[in-house]
Amino acid sequence: MPRKVDSRFVWMDGRIVPADEARVSFFSHAVHYGTGVFEGARCYDGVRGPALFRFTDHLQRLRRSARGYFMEYPWTDAELTAATCELIRRHGFRECYIRPLVQTGEGRMGVRPRECEINAFIAVWSWGAYLGPEALEKGIHAAIVEQRKYLPSALDPTIKACGHYLNSVLATKEAAARGYDEAILLNAHDRVAEGAGENVFIVKDGTLTTNGPEESLLPGITRDSVLTLAKHLGIPVRIVPMTVEDLFGADEVFMTGTAAEVTPVGQINGRTIGKGGCGPVTRTLQTNYLDAVRGRLGAFHHWLTPVPEA
Ligand SMILES: Cc1ncc(COP(=O)(O)O)c(C=O)c1O
Repeated sequence: MPRKVDSRFVWMDGRIVPADEARVSFFSHAVHYGTGVFEGARCYDGVRGPALFRFTDHLQRLRRSARGYFMEYPWTDAELTAATCELIRRHGFRECYIRPLVQTGEGRMGVRPRECEINAFIAVWSWGAYLGPEALEKGIHAAIVEQRKYLPSALDPTIKACGHYLNSVLATKEAAARGYDEAILLNAHDRVAEGAGENVFIVKDGTLTTNGPEESLLPGITRDSVLTLAKHLGIPVRIVPMTVEDLFGADEVFMTGTAAEVTPVGQINGRTIGKGGCGPVTRTLQTNYLDAVRGRLGAFHHWLTPVPEA
């Protein structure tokens, strides 16, 4: 089947190879049991040229995720960063999505990983607005799905592991089958957990609220960026559990993620949130986020790693 992304080379265990040669063994532990971990980062074409956004934080999370599943890899963050920059240059991209992935490879068969290789990959491809071209402008329709977020006592949601995404796969399928753009999952306590691939924020009476990791969520790097920007802008912030009623009663709801960036939520389960579309606080935070990622906010240049020219 023809590849649906414009990825022509992949960095694999220390070498850049044509994308067709970036293959994993059928006998990889990860293929059978989901023991891979990954990241999703972006490169933006900013005022000083292409730069990776908060890549240090993404690589820190990757290593932490890997350790959560007993994987250590020999590559330093500096080596992974240099490999990513080289890949971006080879593709000639000025903006792209970046997917580092580490998997438990071939070894002895069986659920308990034993004597398995660890394989590391980095791929890059062009990826525009994750939830569609109009999502950032007009907002999306989200569904609160039946599928629940798993308990932190079962799987640690702060680890970005391949197998954990089965939960999100089912949630997105359920939302799409009901005609919605994205899923919001509740946790075991009937409170909001997160989106299938995003964190959830509400705005009420000028205060920005989101929930904390104990509510079963991946504390996103975009979430952290938005919280930091909000404080910088003097917007009051609260981190407290959120209920379904909080969502329906909010003036604005939005979702954040590296892929989704800052996406307004105009409707949930068919009910209009606030005035629908993108509210003013969401727009301010979205604009500031998109300015920060493209190096237009001097105070946040430390979030950027420039991609050196060849
Ligand atoms: C389940 C889930 N929650 C939240 C996020 C947002 O995380 P980040 O902002 O670091 O991309 C993601 C995306 O990586 C995700 O998959």
